[in-house]
Amino acid sequence: MVDPKISVAVLIGSPRKESLSRRVASGLKAVAPPELELKVVEIGHLPLFNPDLDRETPASWIEFRGAIKAARALLFVTPEYNRSVPAILKNALEIGSRPYQSPAWTGKPAAIVSQSNGMLGGFGANHHLRQILVFLDVHVLAQPEIYLSQADRLFTAEGALAEGPGRELLQRFMNQFSEFILRHPAAEI
Ligand code: FNR
Repeated sequence: MVDPKISVAVLIGSPRKESLSRRVASGLKAVAPPELELKVVEIGHLPLFNPDLDRETPASWIEFRGAIKAARALLFVTPEYNRSVPAILKNALEIGSRPYQSPAWTGKPAAIVSQSNGMLGGFGANHHLRQILVFLDVHVLAQPEIYLSQADRLFTAEGALAEGPGRELLQRFMNQFSEFILRHPAAEI
């Protein structure tokens, strides 16, 4: 019998159509080992979090919480905005953190890739995200860390992940993430 694939929900911290984070996420999917099934869970359309909305929970929140709960693991790919986590990602984290009795995030293994087209590689966003995820009881891969600077240079003119050290780094990262997930007990869904 073939083992079922390991479902990984990919959260992209950028609302931009031409997002480099989204391109990096595609690159990560291209180099991921075959046991991982990466699927982007969209967050850009989610109404701004307000606890009052849970009196009559928006359908998009119900769907989003369900998609996170159903995933075995989480992969965050994000730019940095003003030295922190972009608002759409923080919004998704808030939405998934409620209802208080059954947050969607609890106990899941996760990994973070931050990127920028500049030199800093989104270090601030990466570490603010780690801080939030500690509170949400998400277990983030500690090493290797990935802060992709000048991330636009990783791609060919056609937008594919180019051959070279950047691709090899992402491949090693995904292999280690997969091993980390497999060592991690599955959270109850
Ligand atoms: C940025 N950018 C940015 N970059 C950085 O290294 N540190 C920062 O604090 C910020 N702040 C910031 C704020 C706002 C409002 C914007 C729009 C942009 C640049 C940004 O992170 C970078 O261009 C990313 O590569 C964009 O990622 P996406 O949107 O292409 O995925």
